Amino acid sequence: MNTEKIIINSENDRKGIERVAEILKKGGIAAIPTETVYGLAANALDEKAVAKIFKAKGRPQDNPLIVHISELSMLPPLVKEIPSVAKRLAENFWPGPLTIIMPRSEIVPASVSAGLDTVAVRFPVHPIARAIISAAGLPLAAPSANLSGSPSPTTAKHCIKDLDGKVDAIVISGDCSVGVESTVISLIGKPRLLRPGAVTAEQLESILGEVEIDKAVTAKPEEGKPVASPGMKYKHYAPKTQVILIEADDNDYINYVNSHKDDGVFALCFSEEKERLCVPAVCYGEESDELSQAAGLFTALRRLDELGAKTAFAHSPKRTGVGLAVFNRLIRAAAFREIKL
Ligand code: TXA
Ligand code: MG
Repeated sequence: MNTEKIIINSENDRKGIERVAEILKKGGIAAIPTETVYGLAANALDEKAVAKIFKAKGRPQDNPLIVHISELSMLPPLVKEIPSVAKRLAENFWPGPLTIIMPRSEIVPASVSAGLDTVAVRFPVHPIARAIISAAGLPLAAPSANLSGSPSPTTAKHCIKDLDGKVDAIVISGDCSVGVESTVISLIGKPRLLRPGAVTAEQLESILGEVEIDKAVTAKPEEGKPVASPGMKYKHYAPKTQVILIEADDNDYINYVNSHKDDGVFALCFSEEKERLCVPAVCYGEESDELSQAAGLFTALRRLDELGAKTAFAHSPKRTGVGLAVFNRLIRAAAFREIKL
């Protein structure tokens, strides 16, 4: 398949926006930018279009997709009911990097939600994403625009690397500012955080009171047991490099990595640490700035692959604020290999 590359620099690029909308309205699939990661979009109400997403990504059929809207008025038809908690979350965090799971209405094909009777809805803040959804006039199902299992795409280049020749179009636009996928909260029963993101657990709690954090956020899901968010059971975000997470203070981390300098290992570290390391180092952000870690993580993981790194010792981030999202992605990239010093 020839993949059309469509350059869109702003929401005022009407020609590009209309072209992507036309492809989507005809049942095609296109990689589009959002503030979190690039998404691979299709008409959420068209089962055939949705099936193309699963095929292009090599995504397991039992991993449900997020449906994207560009106005609050697009929400009611997608859900059976809007829990009052959802209204409060929408008032505070939409548009933005928060996905809310609610009871699914009949118009959303079961395949979008992998057969679950719920639907995940997100209202992105990215102006180009919103313009594309509005121009198509359709809710768009969009998982991250990577091959299933590889790190999520935060640049147009990442999308081309993974999906060129497999999708109808790729929008060439700027890098994603957040860099990790949206926070996912389930409102089926008591509010439960299924995936941490840039809308933090602390922020959610400030609005909702206590929010349960699903065990799968930080721990390895038990084999054979059902998980609340099917995406969490897959070995996710994984580069080819074997990543090993090191939980330690700066000095211990640096000494540990340097003691392995003759073993051909790499470091996946904070930028403040680079100068003190005697092994090749890829930085994923500043230790003092969790947002920079989120923004840099997936590019850093892909960089390790490009450098042919066999093993990388990653310095574990703090687990508070956006750090919890960074930790959640890194521990998966490390397939839960962790050393505590
Ligand atoms: O930031 C994001 O959310 C990006 C951009 C493109 O919007 N999208 C994204 O989609 O990360 P994806 O498919 O890579 O991740 C969706 C996650 C998966 O872990 C999936 O299992 C979960 O959301 N999910 C979707 N629908 C669900 C549902 N009905 N119940 C439970 N989990 C659900
Ligand atoms: Mg994904």
